Amino acid sequence: MASALNCWIICSAMLLLQSGGLFSEKLRTLKVSDWWGKAGFYQIYPRSFKDSNGDGVGDLNGITEKLPYLKSIGVKAFWLSPIYKSPMADFGYDISDFRDIQPEYGTMTDFDRMVTRAKALGLKIILDFVPNHSSDEHEWFLKSENRTAGYEDYYVWHDGIPGNNPLQNDPPNNWVENFRGSAWRWSAKRKQYYLHQFHYKQPDLNYRNEKVVNEMKDVLRFWLGKGVDGFRVDAVPWLFEVADFRNEPVSNLTSNPLSPEYLVHIYTQDLPETVDMVYQWREVMDDYKTKNGGDTRLLMTEAWSNLSVVANYFQDSNKKQGSHMPFNFQLILRLNQMSKAADFKTVIDSWLDIVPGGHTPNWVLGNHDRRRVASRMGGEHMVDLMAMVELTMPGVSVTYQGEELGMTDANLSWEQTKDPAACQTSEAEYTKYTRDPSRTPFHWGNSSLAGFTNGTKTWLPVAANYQTVNVQAEQTASKSHLKVFQELMKLRDSSDFYENQYGTVVLGTNVLAIVRVDCKGVYVTLLNIANATETINAEEAITRLNITKTYEKSRVLVASVSSKRSIGDTLQLHEVVLQPYEGLVLRSGATLLFARVLYILATITIQRLFS
Ligand code: NOJ
Repeated sequence: MASALNCWIICSAMLLLQSGGLFSEKLRTLKVSDWWGKAGFYQIYPRSFKDSNGDGVGDLNGITEKLPYLKSIGVKAFWLSPIYKSPMADFGYDISDFRDIQPEYGTMTDFDRMVTRAKALGLKIILDFVPNHSSDEHEWFLKSENRTAGYEDYYVWHDGIPGNNPLQNDPPNNWVENFRGSAWRWSAKRKQYYLHQFHYKQPDLNYRNEKVVNEMKDVLRFWLGKGVDGFRVDAVPWLFEVADFRNEPVSNLTSNPLSPEYLVHIYTQDLPETVDMVYQWREVMDDYKTKNGGDTRLLMTEAWSNLSVVANYFQDSNKKQGSHMPFNFQLILRLNQMSKAADFKTVIDSWLDIVPGGHTPNWVLGNHDRRRVASRMGGEHMVDLMAMVELTMPGVSVTYQGEELGMTDANLSWEQTKDPAACQTSEAEYTKYTRDPSRTPFHWGNSSLAGFTNGTKTWLPVAANYQTVNVQAEQTASKSHLKVFQELMKLRDSSDFYENQYGTVVLGTNVLAIVRVDCKGVYVTLLNIANATETINAEEAITRLNITKTYEKSRVLVASVSSKRSIGDTLQLHEVVLQPYEGLVLRSGATLLFARVLYILATITIQRLFS
C-alpha cells in the first residue's frame, strides 16, 4: 500500500514536472532601446591585463594596445577595476586620490589616450567608483585624523567604550569588517576609533556628512568630464550604518566572532539611506547627460544582497530611478558543479522575477573576487555552456577577462599570496579566502609569461595552463572557447536577437532550453549539463511555452567545443541527441502557411501519380 502511494506521488510529481507544473513556464518580453540594453561588457583587472613597460604589472598603455582585441570579441563596453592612485593595500580599492592615476598604471595623458582610442573604436568606458571608503593615506583621512577644521567628520569616528585598558577604550560595538576581525581601528593620534568595513587601510567615509556626499558627486562629474560612459559602483551596501552604532545580532552560522558571517548585518548594510544615495548618483548621471548631451551615462552597482533588496536598487515604489544595472550575481552565488537543469532554471527565473518592468536583466558570470567559471563549475567542459546562458539570455552580459578563454584558477602558495583577504588569515586556511587565483596575468600567447609582459617577472605568477589556454592558441584552433564566445557575441549583435519573447524550460533532468521567439522564427539554446548522452524533444520546449506556431528544421548557429556538430548543420527539433556537456544554439524559421499548403498538395499529387 505504502509503495503504491509512493509510486503515485513520484509519478504525479514527474507528470507535473514534465508538464511544467512545478516550474513557471511562461514567455517574458524584452524591449531594448538604449545602447547598453543588449551590450556585452568586459571587466578588465588592469594589474593583470597587459603590461606595456616590462615591470610585471599591467597598465593603461597595455589596455590601449589591446583595445582591438576587445573589439574583435564583440564587446561594446569595458569596465576597469580601479586605476586611481593607491598604496595597493587592497589592490586599488584603497584610493589615496580619487582624481589621479596610479603611477605604475601610467599617467593622465595615458588615460586620455586610452579614452580617445576606445571612442574611435566605438567602445564605451566604465570606471570603478569606490565611494564607501578611501585609503588611510588619502589627504582627507590625514586631515580628519588631525582634526583639521572642516574635515573632522569626513570619516566615522567613535570614542569607543570604557574597558579594562586605562589608555584605550574598547571598540564601540561588535561589528566585523568584511575581510575578518573588528571593523574598528584605534587611532593613537586622534584617540578615537575609526570604522573600516574592509581592510584597516580602507577607512569608511561618513555619508551622514553632506560635504562628503558632495565631494563624491564631484568625483563622478570629474570623470564624466574626462569622457567616461558610466561607473561600476563598488561595495554599495556598506555606505551607511545606523547612527546609534547598535550591536548586530549573531547569525549562528559560525562560532568565529572574527568572521563576517558571525553577524546578521542589519545595521551596517543596505540601509534605506544607502539605497537613496544610489538614486542621487543616478540624478548626477542623468543631469550630466541633460547638460552635455551624448548617450546615457550608466550606473552599474555591486550588491551581493538578497534579491528583494537588489530590486530596490533599480527603482523605488514611486519609480524613482536608481542603478541601471544592479549586478545579477545569481549565476555565481547559486550554481555549482552539482547543479541540475532545474537549478539553472530556478536561478535564472528568480532573477527575472525581480527585474521591474521596463528594466533590463543582466548576467554576470565572474569577477576578480570570485573563482573562475571553469573552476567553480567543475571543469573546462562547462565553459561554453555557461557562456551560452550568459549570452543567449536577453539583456546585458558581463564577462570577466579570461573567461572567454576558459581560464582556470591558478594554484598559488601561501608565499605567493598577495590578497589582503587571505593574508589576514593563516597558511592553514588562506585558500578559503584568497582571491588571487582568478587575478593572475591574462594569457595572450604561449611565449614565456603568456605574452603578458616583455619583462622577466609578473606581480602574481602566470597560471600553469597558459600554453594551451591563450588567445593565440584559441584563435588558431579549429574549435575553441574563444571562438564559441565570439560566435555568441555575433549572434547577440544581429537585429533578430534584439527584441523578442523568451522563456526557459527543463527537458528531462539534465537539459535546459532557452527559447527566444520573434516574428520570423525561434532560437533554441539547448544545454546538456550532464556527463551522459541525452535525447530530447526540443519541440516540447516550444509548446510548453505556449508558442503555437510550427517551425521548420533547425540550423546550428553555435556549437560548444564538446559538440560534434558544425555551424550550419541541420537537425529536427523533435529528436535531438545531445552529447555529454553539449551546448547548441539553434535557429528555426516559422513555417509559412502558404508554403506548407503547397508542400502538402505536392506530396498528395506525387503520391497519387505513383500509386
Ligand atoms: C568589492 C571589490 O570588488 C573588492 O575587490 C574589494 O576588496 C571590496 N569591494 C572593497 O572595496
